Order: sequence, then structure tokens, then C-alpha cells
Amino acid sequence: MNRRWRLVALAGIAALYGCTDGSEPVDPPPAPASRQARTAPPVSRWYTQEQVIRGYGLFQQHCATCHKPDASGAPNWKTADAQGKLPPPPLNGTGHAWHHPLALLRQIVRNGGIPMGGSMPPFKVKLDGRQIDDILAWVQSHWPDRIYTAWNEINQRKNH
Ligand code: HEC
Repeated sequence: MNRRWRLVALAGIAALYGCTDGSEPVDPPPAPASRQARTAPPVSRWYTQEQVIRGYGLFQQHCATCHKPDASGAPNWKTADAQGKLPPPPLNGTGHAWHHPLALLRQIVRNGGIPMGGSMPPFKVKLDGRQIDDILAWVQSHWPDRIYTAWNEINQRKNH
């Protein structure tokens, strides 16, 4: 194992996408049901229902073999294999993907993980920007409001 693989194996997907600066957000605690009703209305989503519907088909075609048809990923996604490669992570809001602003999510899909020492293939030759956004809309439609709200804060912070 060379140094790079060992780093990936040790620090996992957070390191792969640059989440090692100590600013890694902590997963928000689940809001108790009694409090949910009193909290502010959920933030509005950036995508439309039409995008979610188009994204479903595209995800099944291009992403589901690795990330699973329901975007739940591999159960052992945090454990690198003998080659230092990480299994496909969940994208359904339970994994790490919601720590990334939209611009980085787009970039990951466009360029894949290979340039960073991972194994996800790039999609920029197969999918245009609209198709990638449709897929991300479908992916994010799985995220419960509390995850989406936490992501939205990260997204605002990193974009402004
Ligand atoms: C050949 C398997 C494979 C395919 C196909 C694939 N991925 Fe991945 N994906 C991975 C792996 C493995 C990772 C972990 C990083 C790496 O090794 O590159 C990953 C990481 C990601 C991440 C970062 C997640 C995180 O928690 O940081 C996103 C977002 C993502 N993939 C989206 C997609 C989308 C959208 C598609 C379809 C357009 C897709 N992937 C297709 C294997 C795949």
C-alpha cells in the first residue's frame, strides 16, 4: 500500500473530499417528534418535482449498480478494502454526501473519485449539467428535512 492509499484507508471518504480540516460537521441529532411540529417550516428545496422524476431514471441507469437502486450504498462503506478503495457510500442522507455543497456534489459526479485516489468513474462525458442536477435532485429527495436543512446551511456558507 503506498502512502496515498493508506491515507484514504485511514481517514475514509471524509479525507477523499477534503473534510479533514476539523470543520467536519456533526450529524444533527434527530428532532423528537413532539418538537418537530413546533419548529420552523422546512426550508424550500432547490429542485422541482420534475427534476426528481427525471433523475430517478438517470440514477437507475448510471449510478444504481454501485450506490444501489435506493441509494443506500454498501453497508461497509466506511471500510477500505485491501487495495485501499472505499465501497460506494450511501447517498440517501445517512452517509457523508450531505456534508458537501451542491457545487462539490456536481464536481464529484462530473470528475469521479479517481483523481482523488478513489474509484468512482467520471460522468462528464456521459451526462450534461442538467442531467447531473436531475440525479442530484432525486438523491436529495431522499434526505429528511433535518438533513436537508443542515446541508442547506453548509451550502449557503460555502457558496457565499
Ligand atoms: C463503479 C461504481 C460507481 C458508480 C457507477 C457511481 N459511483 Fe459514486 N461513488 C463510488 C465510490 C466507490 C465512491 C467513494 C469515492 C471513490 O472511491 O471514488 C463514490 C462516491 C460518490 C459521492 C460522494 C459521496 C460522499 O459521501 O462523499 C457521490 C455524491 C456519488 N458517488 C454520486 C454518484 C452518482 C450521482 C453516480 C451516477 C451518476 C455515481 N456516483 C456512480 C462508486 C460509484
